[in-house]
Amino acid sequence: MTALWAALAGCGLAPARPFCKGELDAWGIEVCSPRGLSPCVDCGGCRSTGRCVIQDGFEELYRKVEESELVILAFPSYFDSFPAQLKAFIDRLQSRFAVTFAAGRKPELLREGIAFMTAGTDGPQPVSDRTLSHVFAVLGARYLGTVYFGGTDQKAPDPAEAARRLQEIYGQRDKSEN
Ligand SMILES: Cc1cc2nc3c(=O)[nH]c(=O)nc-3n(C[C@H](O)[C@H](O)[C@H](O)COP(=O)(O)O)c2cc1C
Repeated sequence: MTALWAALAGCGLAPARPFCKGELDAWGIEVCSPRGLSPCVDCGGCRSTGRCVIQDGFEELYRKVEESELVILAFPSYFDSFPAQLKAFIDRLQSRFAVTFAAGRKPELLREGIAFMTAGTDGPQPVSDRTLSHVFAVLGARYLGTVYFGGTDQKAPDPAEAARRLQEIYGQRDKSEN
């Protein structure tokens, strides 16, 4: 792995735990947290500039994304969705949406994106590929796929298996065309 990986943990760093045994450093993964960001209130302040006017660290976090070749959104499922902290970050991407999709332009996909999702109960992947593809597009990332572990209330994800699946998805990047 030579890419710079950024992980945005939804809340706590629990979903990134499988990589904490040296892989974070070895793979160049920087773990960032969107904790404490305010939600988007549709103030319209971003419409002309494409920048969010709320000053609370969102722009700094977004800059880290722009500097990354790969973004991993790592989060636990909360009510079959993103945790509120991560959702606040995602909604603030409206500032970028305003100057791309909403202006009739497509964002350039300059990096790659993988989701790492856990859920306490066993079941299908809660957040859809369609939603993730949309979110990653606004991050300027081509969505490659999701590493999903359900049933974590019973059994924590196996770190070796998590790393294996992650590498498998990353290894498919040249064949993926979404
Ligand atoms: C507010 C909240 C909502 C949750 N909603 C769901 C849910 O809808 N489905 C589910 O399977 N697990 C749900 N869980 C369990 C988490 O997904 C589970 O604890 C997580 O995968 C473990 O990761 P963590 O150690 O990072 O919290 C919820 C947990 C919390 C705290």
